[in-house]
Amino acid sequence: MSLYTAFRPLLFRLPPERAHALTLRALKSGIFAGDTGSDDPVLATEVWGKHFANPLGISAGFDKNAEVMAPLLKLGFGFVEVGSITPRPQAGNPRPRVFRLPASHAVINRLGFNNEGIAGAEPRLKSFRAKRTPGLLGVNLGKNKDGEAAADYAAGTRALARYADYLVINVSSPNTPGLRALQGRAELENLIAAVRADLPDPAPPLVLKIAPDLTEADKRDIAAVALASLDGLIVSNTTLARPESLQGSARAETGGLSGRPLFAASTDLLGEMYRLTEGRVPLIGVGGVEDGATAYAKIRAGASLVQLYTALIYHGPGLVKRIKRDLHDLLKRDGFTRVADAVGADAKECV
Ligand code: FNR
Repeated sequence: MSLYTAFRPLLFRLPPERAHALTLRALKSGIFAGDTGSDDPVLATEVWGKHFANPLGISAGFDKNAEVMAPLLKLGFGFVEVGSITPRPQAGNPRPRVFRLPASHAVINRLGFNNEGIAGAEPRLKSFRAKRTPGLLGVNLGKNKDGEAAADYAAGTRALARYADYLVINVSSPNTPGLRALQGRAELENLIAAVRADLPDPAPPLVLKIAPDLTEADKRDIAAVALASLDGLIVSNTTLARPESLQGSARAETGGLSGRPLFAASTDLLGEMYRLTEGRVPLIGVGGVEDGATAYAKIRAGASLVQLYTALIYHGPGLVKRIKRDLHDLLKRDGFTRVADAVGADAKECV
């Protein structure tokens, strides 16, 4: 039994946000054993000309304030995405605002971008960069609840893009009023132009994180914009949908659903975006990844990189090493000698 399996019942007796705060403290203290071994070369991959020792990352929302980047990389992640960071600090929605649905291995959250703002994150990003820790860093930008979209994302870009191996415009949280409306074509083009104007030289790759609840027209618009002016897409954020099978008294709570029940919808959308962008735009697959098989399915659907968050709550830090081991075995089983060769394999089989 892992240390986490022993601790989980205790952790689950606490409100989710309290448990998360404790987890962050534990990570900072270095009590987790981590994965000190080096990754098998089969897991290595190159995206945007950058070397990832493995394709598995922690998605935004876990480390909103850029506090535990090095400890997360030590757990074995190939990359860490911090944020969402808004220009000014904000408290988010009233508590309770995070709910576990253990029978479905899911979470519903309506945090509303609670974070310490640029001023909180910037010094920590700066000192992380100064230490030259191996592993890659994504910086995910949000907008303040009462902010103006283009001005807010541009402000985040001016302050933080210099620290990022890739920069994310997050227009897909369901918990900031009006945010998802920025996924329309004209809105996206304006937003991207505003952000691009403020990118440093050299500029990090610019990536858009999208919602799973999109119309067909939205998907086509996003694909066209991605091909014209983005370096990548993250598919996807949490969903407003509530699948029939969802179990738990919290299922009626307002907010975004993540974890196991999000897997099918987010992976379908990933495959669709891969086809719509003709495999020419690197995709990061996220939503319901919980083992080697689900990570591999994201890659086969078109993901060059994979992220997770909710499964970590249910399985603990040892999950990272297990996913990498199983992903390695699945790639080998199917005759792939590197991750890149498996990217979009399912789409190619359909042709
Ligand atoms: C999130 N997610 C998220 N995404 C984002 O872009 N900015 C954010 O601030 C947050 N915050 C956040 C908080 C909590 C508590 C959760 C559970 C999730 C979404 C996250 O990065 C991811 O896209 C989804 O959770 C789907 O992946 P999993 O959790 O199913 O692996």
